[in-house]
Amino acid sequence: MIDQFGRNITYLRISVTELCNLRCRYCMPAQGVCKKDHADMLTEDEMIQAVEAAASLGITKLRITGGEPLVKKNIVSICRRAAAVPGIQEVCLTTNGILLPQLAKPLKEAGVRRLNLSIDTLNPEKYAYITRNGSLEDFWKGFHAAMDAGFEKIKLNAVLIGGFNDDEIEPLAELTRQYPVDMRFIELMPMCDSAEFGSEAYIPYTRVLEALPEAKALPKDGSVAKLYRLPGAKGNIGLISPVSAHFCGECNRIRLTADGKVKPCLHSNAEYPLKGLFFEGMRAQLEQAILGKPQWHGSLDVAHHSGAGRNMNQIGG
Ligand code: 5AD
Ligand code: SF4
Repeated sequence: MIDQFGRNITYLRISVTELCNLRCRYCMPAQGVCKKDHADMLTEDEMIQAVEAAASLGITKLRITGGEPLVKKNIVSICRRAAAVPGIQEVCLTTNGILLPQLAKPLKEAGVRRLNLSIDTLNPEKYAYITRNGSLEDFWKGFHAAMDAGFEKIKLNAVLIGGFNDDEIEPLAELTRQYPVDMRFIELMPMCDSAEFGSEAYIPYTRVLEALPEAKALPKDGSVAKLYRLPGAKGNIGLISPVSAHFCGECNRIRLTADGKVKPCLHSNAEYPLKGLFFEGMRAQLEQAILGKPQWHGSLDVAHHSGAGRNMNQIGG
């Protein structure tokens, strides 16, 4: 479906849970989240019905997110059923990777085609710091399980944080020489819990290019990332700049939260509830959400925090 500003909305991101087995500092509060009442969250059947309603409006691509989607007990079934909905051409998933040793193969068999894995640092102490106690070794086990499972594409995501990992741009980018994966650097967005970061943490994507003088620009591939490649690399470098150069004009996505709210824009608190509705009602709400999608997200910087009204774990990145 085409929105008011001529954007063809074909991409739905579904957060299947707000819970996570890590506590990344830019994403979640230290104590985790207050577990919401189970009755307020979408059931598996409701999620699938929402996918059917979205597909009937022209959604062709799904990304499953969280929180951490792999802590959801029925994640494989959700992926399998979502991938089978007529009109859905591609199901992708974003994960911290920790549970992939058990789940990579079942997810691949369920029809998940691509994975995005979060990896902000290659240093075990720094990984434990930023995730508030995650194990980098567990991440690598998950990464290798994903490589072995034969996904079409694996992308690694690092949130760029000045004073934390801006000294690791080169070694992170080197992973594209070692493995057939893309490495993407994402500008830190000022959401609720990123407030603890000072202005020095917010660095623009151009800092990545300064650290990688050999990187050659490539044509865009339809995603919101600016693409580059290092000589001899097996994968691309992607730069995602929601803060310093917003890409709202090309935004083709809407989001569905685990508690059943359609969010037409990550940084707006406008929400269209689906909980308790059936196909027709969900379709009507999704249609309203697409028509209500704002033209852009407004200023985002250390002084202008996101208007999302939620933390990232409650939206799905
Ligand atoms: N800024 C940028 N990206 C974020 N993510 C979570 N919080 C933020 C933030 N404040 C992204 C990370 C992570 C994914 C789950 O969400 O890329 O990999
Ligand atoms: Fe969990 Fe991902 Fe948020 Fe980290 S960024 S706390 S891994 S949901």
